[in-house]
Amino acid sequence: MLNIALPKGRLGEKVYAMFEQAGYECPSIKENNRKLIFENAEKGVRYFWVKPSDVSIYVERGAADVGVCGKDILAEYDPDVYELLDFKTGVCRMAVAGPKNFHDDGQHTLKVATKFENCAKAFYAKKGRDIDIIKLNGSIEIAPILGLSDVIVDIVETGTTLKENNLDVIETVFPISARLIVNKASFKFKTAAVEDLTAKLRTMLEEKERE
Ligand code: PRP
Repeated sequence: MLNIALPKGRLGEKVYAMFEQAGYECPSIKENNRKLIFENAEKGVRYFWVKPSDVSIYVERGAADVGVCGKDILAEYDPDVYELLDFKTGVCRMAVAGPKNFHDDGQHTLKVATKFENCAKAFYAKKGRDIDIIKLNGSIEIAPILGLSDVIVDIVETGTTLKENNLDVIETVFPISARLIVNKASFKFKTAAVEDLTAKLRTMLEEKERE
């Protein structure tokens, strides 16, 4: 049995549809209830829905053999897992954004509000730019408006949130998409099942690309 952690929400549903197309369906998952774990013994899969930012924790600790999570989570938490596949869905980017016409004069410590502390630190360390990190847990876009920070480092998908708050992208930090990750011990001891799953998902993705 392969234990698969899926991120709860829109991305998870999209990705589950891909597992289904690849031959790993689990019809009970479509039942509209509050259950979080679903199994299809015949296909050898057990799915569970977890908070997107928790997927890598389940996989790293082996509670899940494989899981799907965004590159943002992998970059921020650097979990000890293998990354096997890029689903090329859930595409967005990590970006620096600030008030329109913001210019960093480089004269003072730059105040950066973000949920992604490590990504922001690494990005500015590479530039040799001195920053003060303000760690927030959501609604990051408000920080520069209220003068809590100069800029933000956050996820930009459509750009609507920035636009509606009069902010602009200043720089892209890195591109993001959903990835298949695997626990290192599972990769060693459930090699055939993991490789089979990866190969079928890859074939499904290639077919999708050709469509
Ligand atoms: C994310 C992100 C941005 C928004 C970007 O927030 O932090 O706020 O989506 O999407 P857009 O470019 O399509 O507008 P999320 O909805 O995860 O909520 P959060 O405020 O808790 O970060």
